[in-house]
Amino acid sequence: QTEISRVRNLERIQMGTYEVEPWYFSPYPAEFADSELVYICEFCLSYFGNSTQFGRHRKKCTLLHPPGNEIYRDDSVSFFEIDGRRQRTWCRNLCLLSKLFLDHKTLYYDVDPFLFYCMTERTAHGHHLIGYFSKEKECAEGYNVACILTLPQYQRKGFGKLLIQFSYELSKIENKLGSPEKPLSDLGLLGYRAYWQEVIVDLLIERENEGTPMMSVEELGQALAMTTNDVLHTLQNLNMLRYSNKNHVIVLTDGVVAQREKQKEKERVKGRRVIEAERLQWRPPV
Ligand code: COA
Ligand code: NA
Repeated sequence: QTEISRVRNLERIQMGTYEVEPWYFSPYPAEFADSELVYICEFCLSYFGNSTQFGRHRKKCTLLHPPGNEIYRDDSVSFFEIDGRRQRTWCRNLCLLSKLFLDHKTLYYDVDPFLFYCMTERTAHGHHLIGYFSKEKECAEGYNVACILTLPQYQRKGFGKLLIQFSYELSKIENKLGSPEKPLSDLGLLGYRAYWQEVIVDLLIERENEGTPMMSVEELGQALAMTTNDVLHTLQNLNMLRYSNKNHVIVLTDGVVAQREKQKEKERVKGRRVIEAERLQWRPPV
Protein backbone atom coordinates (compact mmCIF):
# COMPACT_ATOMS: atom_id res chain seq x y z
CA GLN A 1 0.00 0.00 0.00
CA THR A 2 1.56 3.25 -1.11
CA GLU A 3 0.32 6.78 -0.52
CA ILE A 4 -0.38 8.44 -3.82
CA SER A 5 -1.38 12.06 -3.97
CA ARG A 6 0.33 13.27 -7.09
CA VAL A 7 -1.14 14.98 -10.10
CA ARG A 8 -2.23 13.26 -13.28
CA ASN A 9 0.86 12.04 -15.10
CA LEU A 10 -0.29 10.46 -18.38
CA GLU A 11 -1.48 12.70 -21.19
CA ARG A 12 -3.48 10.18 -23.22
CA ILE A 13 -3.74 6.42 -23.51
CA GLN A 14 -4.69 4.25 -26.45
CA MET A 15 -6.52 0.98 -25.88
CA GLY A 16 -7.90 -1.06 -28.75
CA THR A 17 -9.75 1.37 -31.01
CA TYR A 18 -10.13 4.01 -28.28
CA GLU A 19 -8.09 6.96 -27.13
CA VAL A 20 -8.84 8.09 -23.60
CA GLU A 21 -7.74 10.91 -21.35
CA PRO A 22 -6.82 9.70 -17.84
CA TRP A 23 -8.49 11.35 -14.83
CA TYR A 24 -5.92 10.80 -12.07
CA PHE A 25 -2.36 9.89 -11.26
CA SER A 26 -1.27 6.28 -11.63
CA PRO A 27 2.25 5.04 -10.81
CA TYR A 28 3.33 4.01 -14.30
CA PRO A 29 7.14 4.26 -14.71
CA ALA A 30 8.23 7.91 -14.63
CA GLU A 31 9.42 8.02 -18.26
CA PHE A 32 5.85 7.42 -19.51
CA ALA A 33 4.93 10.93 -18.39
CA ASP A 34 6.93 12.21 -21.37
CA SER A 35 4.91 10.27 -23.96
CA GLU A 36 2.13 12.06 -25.78
CA LEU A 37 0.31 8.77 -26.10
CA VAL A 38 0.80 5.64 -24.00
CA TYR A 39 -0.19 2.44 -25.78
CA ILE A 40 -1.88 -0.18 -23.65
CA CYS A 41 -2.33 -3.66 -25.04
CA GLU A 42 -6.04 -4.25 -24.59
CA PHE A 43 -5.48 -7.97 -23.93
CA CYS A 44 -2.40 -8.30 -21.71
CA LEU A 45 -2.61 -4.69 -20.43
CA SER A 46 1.15 -4.11 -20.91
CA TYR A 47 2.12 -0.52 -21.65
CA PHE A 48 4.40 1.07 -24.24
CA GLY A 49 5.72 4.59 -24.72
CA ASN A 50 5.79 4.57 -28.52
CA SER A 51 4.07 2.93 -31.46
CA THR A 52 7.16 1.01 -32.66
CA GLN A 53 7.53 -0.86 -29.39
CA PHE A 54 3.79 -1.38 -29.22
CA GLY A 55 3.67 -2.69 -32.81
CA ARG A 56 6.45 -5.16 -32.03
CA HIS A 57 4.54 -6.33 -28.97
CA ARG A 58 1.25 -6.77 -30.82
CA LYS A 59 2.95 -9.13 -33.28
CA LYS A 60 3.99 -11.36 -30.38
CA CYS A 61 1.05 -11.09 -27.96
CA THR A 62 -1.25 -14.09 -28.27
CA LEU A 63 -3.78 -13.25 -25.55
CA LEU A 64 -7.36 -12.76 -26.79
CA HIS A 65 -9.19 -12.61 -23.46
CA PRO A 66 -8.43 -12.04 -19.76
CA PRO A 67 -6.28 -14.90 -18.41
CA GLY A 68 -8.87 -16.76 -16.33
CA ASN A 69 -11.98 -18.93 -16.49
CA GLU A 70 -14.97 -17.69 -18.42
CA ILE A 71 -17.75 -18.10 -15.86
CA TYR A 72 -20.54 -16.26 -17.67
CA ARG A 73 -21.52 -15.67 -21.29
CA ASP A 74 -24.62 -14.21 -22.89
CA ASP A 75 -25.29 -12.59 -26.26
CA SER A 76 -23.43 -9.42 -25.41
CA VAL A 77 -20.94 -9.94 -22.58
CA SER A 78 -18.71 -12.48 -20.84
CA PHE A 79 -17.20 -12.56 -17.37
CA PHE A 80 -13.79 -14.01 -16.53
CA GLU A 81 -12.62 -14.82 -13.00
CA ILE A 82 -8.93 -14.10 -12.44
CA ASP A 83 -6.91 -15.00 -9.35
CA GLY A 84 -4.50 -12.23 -8.35
CA ARG A 85 -1.99 -14.74 -7.06
CA ARG A 86 -1.91 -16.80 -10.24
CA GLN A 87 -1.98 -13.86 -12.66
CA ARG A 88 0.04 -11.35 -10.70
CA THR A 89 1.40 -9.33 -13.65
CA TRP A 90 -1.90 -9.10 -15.46
CA CYS A 91 -3.74 -8.04 -12.30
CA ARG A 92 -1.08 -5.45 -11.41
CA ASN A 93 -1.42 -4.05 -14.93
CA LEU A 94 -5.18 -3.91 -14.42
CA CYS A 95 -4.75 -2.02 -11.14
CA LEU A 96 -2.34 0.45 -12.77
CA LEU A 97 -4.81 1.04 -15.58
CA SER A 98 -7.80 1.44 -13.29
CA LYS A 99 -5.94 3.82 -10.97
CA LEU A 100 -6.05 6.30 -13.88
CA PHE A 101 -9.79 6.57 -13.16
CA LEU A 102 -9.91 6.08 -9.40
CA ASP A 103 -9.29 8.86 -6.95
CA HIS A 104 -8.40 6.87 -3.88
CA LYS A 105 -4.97 7.45 -2.44
CA THR A 106 -3.85 3.88 -2.02
CA LEU A 107 -3.04 1.38 -4.69
CA TYR A 108 -2.84 -2.30 -3.98
CA TYR A 109 0.35 -3.71 -5.44
CA ASP A 110 -0.44 -6.80 -3.47
CA VAL A 111 -3.01 -8.38 -5.76
CA ASP A 112 -2.66 -11.87 -4.23
CA PRO A 113 -5.62 -11.54 -1.79
CA PHE A 114 -8.05 -10.58 -4.56
CA LEU A 115 -10.14 -12.16 -7.27
CA PHE A 116 -10.87 -10.02 -10.31
CA TYR A 117 -14.16 -10.33 -12.20
CA CYS A 118 -13.62 -8.91 -15.67
CA MET A 119 -16.45 -8.17 -18.08
CA THR A 120 -15.73 -8.28 -21.80
CA GLU A 121 -17.45 -7.63 -25.09
CA ARG A 122 -16.90 -10.24 -27.81
CA THR A 123 -15.99 -9.42 -31.39
CA ALA A 124 -14.29 -11.41 -34.15
CA HIS A 125 -11.00 -9.99 -32.81
CA GLY A 126 -11.35 -11.21 -29.23
CA HIS A 127 -12.79 -10.33 -25.83
CA HIS A 128 -12.47 -6.60 -25.21
CA LEU A 129 -12.34 -5.41 -21.61
CA ILE A 130 -15.32 -3.24 -20.60
CA GLY A 131 -14.79 -3.09 -16.84
CA TYR A 132 -14.25 -5.18 -13.73
CA PHE A 133 -14.63 -5.42 -10.02
CA SER A 134 -12.22 -6.91 -7.52
CA LYS A 135 -13.22 -8.90 -4.48
CA GLU A 136 -11.20 -9.95 -1.46
CA LYS A 137 -10.88 -13.70 -1.14
CA GLU A 138 -11.39 -13.42 2.62
CA CYS A 139 -13.13 -10.26 3.68
CA ALA A 140 -13.69 -9.81 7.42
CA GLU A 141 -16.15 -6.94 6.81
CA GLY A 142 -18.19 -9.00 4.34
CA TYR A 143 -17.68 -6.68 1.36
CA ASN A 144 -18.59 -8.28 -1.96
CA VAL A 145 -16.76 -5.65 -4.03
CA ALA A 146 -13.45 -3.88 -3.33
CA CYS A 147 -12.92 -1.79 -6.48
CA ILE A 148 -15.30 -1.37 -9.40
CA LEU A 149 -14.67 0.31 -12.73
CA THR A 150 -16.24 0.73 -16.13
CA LEU A 151 -13.57 1.96 -18.57
CA PRO A 152 -14.50 5.52 -19.62
CA GLN A 153 -15.08 4.50 -23.25
CA TYR A 154 -17.92 2.24 -22.01
CA GLN A 155 -19.44 4.39 -19.26
CA ARG A 156 -23.11 5.51 -19.07
CA LYS A 157 -24.31 2.53 -21.13
CA GLY A 158 -25.61 0.39 -18.29
CA PHE A 159 -22.44 -1.70 -17.87
CA GLY A 160 -21.81 -0.45 -14.32
CA LYS A 161 -25.21 -1.77 -13.28
CA LEU A 162 -24.33 -5.10 -14.89
CA LEU A 163 -21.09 -5.30 -12.89
CA ILE A 164 -22.98 -4.49 -9.70
CA GLN A 165 -25.71 -7.02 -10.45
CA PHE A 166 -23.06 -9.65 -11.12
CA SER A 167 -21.44 -9.01 -7.72
CA TYR A 168 -24.79 -9.63 -6.03
CA GLU A 169 -25.42 -12.79 -8.06
CA LEU A 170 -22.13 -14.14 -6.67
CA SER A 171 -23.26 -13.22 -3.13
CA LYS A 172 -26.56 -15.06 -3.69
CA ILE A 173 -24.65 -18.22 -4.64
CA GLU A 174 -22.43 -17.79 -1.57
CA ASN A 175 -25.57 -17.33 0.50
CA LYS A 176 -24.22 -14.07 1.91
CA LEU A 177 -25.40 -10.50 2.16
CA GLY A 178 -22.98 -8.23 0.31
CA SER A 179 -22.10 -4.57 0.25
CA PRO A 180 -19.35 -2.63 -1.53
CA GLU A 181 -16.23 -1.48 0.31
CA LYS A 182 -16.47 2.05 1.74
CA PRO A 183 -15.89 4.83 1.04
CA LEU A 184 -17.45 4.81 -2.42
CA SER A 185 -16.52 7.48 -4.96
CA ASP A 186 -19.23 9.93 -6.07
CA LEU A 187 -19.74 7.96 -9.27
CA GLY A 188 -19.69 4.70 -7.36
CA LEU A 189 -22.41 5.95 -5.02
CA LEU A 190 -24.55 7.13 -7.95
CA GLY A 191 -24.19 3.75 -9.63
CA TYR A 192 -25.01 1.75 -6.50
CA ARG A 193 -27.96 3.96 -5.52
CA ALA A 194 -29.43 3.57 -8.99
CA TYR A 195 -29.03 -0.22 -8.84
CA TRP A 196 -30.40 -0.57 -5.28
CA GLN A 197 -33.46 1.57 -5.99
CA GLU A 198 -34.23 -0.32 -9.14
CA VAL A 199 -34.04 -3.85 -7.74
CA ILE A 200 -35.92 -3.00 -4.55
CA VAL A 201 -38.73 -1.15 -6.29
CA ASP A 202 -39.04 -3.83 -9.00
CA LEU A 203 -39.31 -6.59 -6.43
CA LEU A 204 -41.94 -4.69 -4.41
CA ILE A 205 -43.98 -3.92 -7.53
CA GLU A 206 -43.78 -7.59 -8.56
CA ARG A 207 -45.02 -8.72 -5.14
CA GLU A 208 -47.82 -6.19 -5.14
CA ASN A 209 -48.95 -7.33 -8.59
CA GLU A 210 -48.99 -10.91 -7.31
CA GLY A 211 -51.12 -9.79 -4.39
CA THR A 212 -48.63 -11.19 -1.85
CA PRO A 213 -47.98 -9.36 1.43
CA MET A 214 -45.41 -6.57 1.51
CA MET A 215 -41.90 -7.82 2.27
CA SER A 216 -39.95 -6.73 5.30
CA VAL A 217 -36.57 -5.03 5.16
CA GLU A 218 -34.91 -8.32 6.12
CA GLU A 219 -36.78 -10.30 3.47
CA LEU A 220 -35.80 -7.77 0.81
CA GLY A 221 -32.17 -8.08 1.90
CA GLN A 222 -32.30 -11.88 1.74
CA ALA A 223 -33.92 -11.91 -1.69
CA LEU A 224 -31.43 -9.42 -3.16
CA ALA A 225 -28.29 -10.45 -1.18
CA MET A 226 -28.18 -6.88 0.17
CA THR A 227 -27.33 -5.86 3.72
CA THR A 228 -30.20 -4.61 5.91
CA ASN A 229 -28.38 -1.30 6.14
CA ASP A 230 -28.25 -0.80 2.38
CA VAL A 231 -31.96 -1.73 2.06
CA LEU A 232 -32.91 0.69 4.84
CA HIS A 233 -30.91 3.56 3.39
CA THR A 234 -32.36 3.00 -0.06
CA LEU A 235 -35.93 2.96 1.29
CA GLN A 236 -35.18 6.10 3.30
CA ASN A 237 -33.85 7.87 0.20
CA LEU A 238 -37.04 6.92 -1.62
CA ASN A 239 -39.10 8.13 1.34
CA MET A 240 -40.77 4.72 1.52
CA LEU A 241 -40.39 4.02 5.24
CA ARG A 242 -43.06 4.65 7.84
CA TYR A 243 -42.86 3.76 11.50
CA SER A 244 -45.54 2.13 13.56
CA ASN A 245 -44.92 0.82 17.07
CA LYS A 246 -41.19 1.17 16.46
CA ASN A 247 -41.45 -1.16 13.45
CA HIS A 248 -40.55 -0.22 9.89
CA VAL A 249 -43.43 -0.29 7.46
CA ILE A 250 -42.59 -0.15 3.78
CA VAL A 251 -44.91 1.92 1.66
CA LEU A 252 -44.74 1.63 -2.11
CA THR A 253 -45.85 5.13 -3.00
CA ASP A 254 -47.57 6.10 -6.26
CA GLY A 255 -44.77 8.57 -6.92
CA VAL A 256 -42.10 5.86 -6.75
CA VAL A 257 -44.11 3.52 -8.97
CA ALA A 258 -44.71 6.26 -11.53
CA GLN A 259 -41.01 7.18 -11.49
CA ARG A 260 -40.02 3.56 -12.10
CA GLU A 261 -42.53 3.21 -14.95
CA LYS A 262 -41.00 6.25 -16.64
CA GLN A 263 -37.53 4.77 -16.22
CA LYS A 264 -38.65 1.45 -17.67
CA GLU A 265 -40.05 3.21 -20.71
CA LYS A 266 -36.60 4.73 -21.28
CA GLU A 267 -35.02 1.28 -20.88
CA ARG A 268 -37.38 -0.19 -23.46
CA VAL A 269 -36.13 2.39 -25.96
CA LYS A 270 -32.44 2.15 -25.05
CA GLY A 271 -32.44 -1.61 -24.56
CA ARG A 272 -31.86 -2.93 -21.09
CA ARG A 273 -28.96 -5.16 -20.12
CA VAL A 274 -29.35 -7.74 -17.37
CA ILE A 275 -27.33 -10.64 -16.05
CA GLU A 276 -29.18 -13.90 -16.63
CA ALA A 277 -28.35 -15.72 -13.41
CA GLU A 278 -28.96 -19.17 -14.92
CA ARG A 279 -26.01 -18.64 -17.28
CA LEU A 280 -23.59 -18.17 -14.40
CA GLN A 281 -21.28 -21.19 -14.00
CA TRP A 282 -19.63 -20.60 -10.70
CA ARG A 283 -18.97 -22.10 -7.30
CA PRO A 284 -17.46 -20.11 -4.43
CA PRO A 285 -13.67 -20.69 -4.47
CA VAL A 286 -12.55 -22.87 -1.53
N1 COA B 1 -23.62 11.34 -13.66
C1 COA B 1 -24.81 11.09 -13.09
N2 COA B 1 -25.26 9.82 -12.82
C2 COA B 1 -24.46 8.79 -13.14
C3 COA B 1 -23.19 8.99 -13.76
C4 COA B 1 -22.79 10.33 -14.02
N3 COA B 1 -21.61 10.62 -14.63
N4 COA B 1 -22.63 7.80 -13.98
C5 COA B 1 -23.49 6.87 -13.51
N5 COA B 1 -24.60 7.48 -13.00
C6 COA B 1 -25.77 6.82 -12.39
C7 COA B 1 -27.01 6.95 -13.26
O1 COA B 1 -28.14 6.88 -12.46
C8 COA B 1 -26.89 5.72 -14.12
O2 COA B 1 -28.09 5.27 -14.65
P1 COA B 1 -28.68 5.99 -16.00
O3 COA B 1 -27.53 6.07 -16.99
O4 COA B 1 -29.77 5.05 -16.44
O5 COA B 1 -29.16 7.33 -15.56
C9 COA B 1 -26.39 4.70 -13.11
O6 COA B 1 -25.48 5.43 -12.29
C10 COA B 1 -25.69 3.50 -13.69
O7 COA B 1 -24.96 3.86 -14.82
P2 COA B 1 -24.14 2.78 -15.65
O8 COA B 1 -24.08 3.21 -17.08
O9 COA B 1 -24.67 1.42 -15.37
O10 COA B 1 -22.70 2.89 -14.95
P3 COA B 1 -21.27 3.04 -15.62
O11 COA B 1 -21.01 1.90 -16.56
O12 COA B 1 -21.07 4.39 -16.13
O13 COA B 1 -20.33 2.75 -14.35
C11 COA B 1 -19.09 3.37 -12.42
C12 COA B 1 -20.50 3.34 -13.08
C13 COA B 1 -19.18 3.91 -11.01
C14 COA B 1 -18.52 1.95 -12.37
C15 COA B 1 -18.20 4.30 -13.31
O14 COA B 1 -18.67 5.62 -13.22
C16 COA B 1 -16.72 4.29 -12.97
O15 COA B 1 -16.01 3.36 -13.33
N6 COA B 1 -16.22 5.36 -12.29
C17 COA B 1 -14.80 5.50 -11.98
C18 COA B 1 -14.36 4.48 -10.95
C19 COA B 1 -15.13 4.60 -9.64
O16 COA B 1 -15.34 5.69 -9.13
N7 COA B 1 -15.52 3.44 -9.08
C20 COA B 1 -16.27 3.34 -7.83
C21 COA B 1 -15.41 3.47 -6.63
S1 COA B 1 -14.46 2.00 -6.23
NA1 NA C 1 -25.68 -4.39 -0.05
